Amino acid sequence: MTEKKFNRFTVTAALPYANGPVHIGHLAGVYVPADIYVRYLRCLGRDVAFIGGSDEHGVAITLKARKEGKTPQQIVDRYHEIIKKSFTSFGISFDIYSRTSSPKHHEMASAYFDKLYKNGVFEEKESWNFYDEKADQFLADRYIKGTCPVCSFSEAYGDQCEHCGSTLSPNELIHPKSMLSGEEPIMKATKHWYFPLDKYENFLREYILQDHTEWKPNVSGQCKSWLDGGLRARPMTRDLGWGIKVPIKGATGKVLYVWFDAPIGYISATQEWAAAKGKNWEDYWKKEDTKLVHFIGKDNIVFHCIIFPSILQAEGSYILPDNVPANEFLNLEGNKISTSRNWAVWLHEYLEDFPDKQDVLRYVLTANAPETKDNDFTWKDFQTRNNSELVAIYGNFVNRAVVLTHKFFKGEVPERQNLQKIDKDTLEALSTFPDRIASALERFKFREALNHLMDLARLGNKYLAETEPWKLIKTDLERVSTILNVSLQMVTSLGLLSKPFLPNTYHKLSRILNFGDLKWQDAGRSDNLKKTTVLGPALLLFEKIEDDVIEAQIKKLMDTKDENQETAVQIYPIKEKINYDDFMKMDLRVGEILTAEPVPKSNKLLKFTVDTGLDQRTIVSGVAKYFSPQEMVGKKVTVLLNLAPRKIMGIISQGMLLFAENEDGSLKSVAPDTNATNGAGIS
Ligand code: 2FM
Ligand code: ZN
Repeated sequence: MTEKKFNRFTVTAALPYANGPVHIGHLAGVYVPADIYVRYLRCLGRDVAFIGGSDEHGVAITLKARKEGKTPQQIVDRYHEIIKKSFTSFGISFDIYSRTSSPKHHEMASAYFDKLYKNGVFEEKESWNFYDEKADQFLADRYIKGTCPVCSFSEAYGDQCEHCGSTLSPNELIHPKSMLSGEEPIMKATKHWYFPLDKYENFLREYILQDHTEWKPNVSGQCKSWLDGGLRARPMTRDLGWGIKVPIKGATGKVLYVWFDAPIGYISATQEWAAAKGKNWEDYWKKEDTKLVHFIGKDNIVFHCIIFPSILQAEGSYILPDNVPANEFLNLEGNKISTSRNWAVWLHEYLEDFPDKQDVLRYVLTANAPETKDNDFTWKDFQTRNNSELVAIYGNFVNRAVVLTHKFFKGEVPERQNLQKIDKDTLEALSTFPDRIASALERFKFREALNHLMDLARLGNKYLAETEPWKLIKTDLERVSTILNVSLQMVTSLGLLSKPFLPNTYHKLSRILNFGDLKWQDAGRSDNLKKTTVLGPALLLFEKIEDDVIEAQIKKLMDTKDENQETAVQIYPIKEKINYDDFMKMDLRVGEILTAEPVPKSNKLLKFTVDTGLDQRTIVSGVAKYFSPQEMVGKKVTVLLNLAPRKIMGIISQGMLLFAENEDGSLKSVAPDTNATNGAGIS
């Protein structure tokens, strides 16, 4: 493949949902790499539009609003500001940070949908959906609660059980209830407009698997499995009161699907930015010499690599994403980051606890970025990387070179003469760093790029350790002068090359070395600092982080864990005491599974015929995730016989099979001894 020449870059970073603040996972996965890439392009003098904004539609926002007794607009207004402020504080250098509730975006997304509609792109289909008659409203999956068919937790959502983690669909819930009225919802027909993704399969195969073989393996791998799994038409409209109204007659009460409008948010934000800057937005979205790059997390791959490109292709006048360097997830202290369980390091809280240490977090999150697999953030690692890398390697090198120059040459850059082999070799090595770093950045390998940068600081330390200028000051001033000159040229390049990664550090170094006029392209040269340059005072770049500071952060997290455990007990409470008679009310017996089969349309349930010693009866149980039907046949089981019969997915279940549930929700057998006879009472 020949390398394409691009004259312009449109770089987007996923629009975060404005229903909560942003945390380190967001920064590591999306915003820091996007910012490094954009800052690098700007260093090269490229024409870049860096687009961001808040994703302000969708069910998640309406649920949050409901929970807090606020309107969705109040919620997004609040979090949009908090998120925007966090990004600004961490130096995420968006050209625009917009929002999808803006009238401009509504207008653009609506017009886009209308164009596709008029071109006959959508398929109109009726489907049956849950409907709350009392609230006169269709219900999103999250708006339905009921008993989980897997673990019997009574507060499971229509899309997921938060107790056992099972993914559900609302028709699997036992006794489903609308969260709006508390009533049992009915099924009602509703019309939606579907995007026929299946018709785009050939286009997508060529676009992803042939034209973009350079995409990261985690991205193309996920795309391939979507393509191989078969694409189906997806509804682009929803029955919801919050969002962009569907601009079609007969679509009252319907809004655009949030994943239809959100990526269009990149375009409407570009329009807003271009209008303010007197630029032509179409250059950034419709010209073939523009490179469009989306930075996202792995959960967004299908939307950015499959659905959005097809939607762009259907419209016809847009360029397609040239790359989508999606990252995997960052975990925190061994657990998945979770907003609802408050298991996160929130950016606004980090800034309160570590003011002026934005670059430290940017550094740690890049050095440990989840580029190819999920990674773990730990406070200990944060401390080690700060103390042993930023302080001991980077800061130490800069500090020694600058302090010695102040001490021995009153801060004036000393002259260089009579180069020895070590000086020449070091300067030669210095010249290789810009290309190494640039090449890694162009390939979206940010960890590798940062590692090269640190290698430059390592080289500086090694050079000083080997030349030991502090020992020569009394005997060979000329030699000391040369060594410090070489060192300061290295510090200058280190500063210039740090600009995309550590913007605050770059500025400090620029004040120390007065290299404000130098450009990225000057990095690697050995004559950047002239003899006449006078250094500024040696500012502190990084400082040691003590154990007690780290322990306080760990304690804060552990307190959260305790609170979560308390909540878990609240969700699945320790049951109140019962007396012997209560216990004896339960008719527990030994049974034996005669037949076992999956329940159609459910991936959770198995239907059993059980020999209870008294009869043979049907029992439905949510164990399909943990046991295959084959392995269950012939097994002895503990059965609760006198549980009132219940209808589960249209099958009358007469009783309950008992299992042990591990902490992670997995089920294990509590089978009676094989010699126990069917029907034997358990007490
Ligand atoms: O996953 C998310 O947080 C989404 N709000 C990302 C949207 S990206 C784009 F399409 F807007
Ligand atoms: Zn469950």
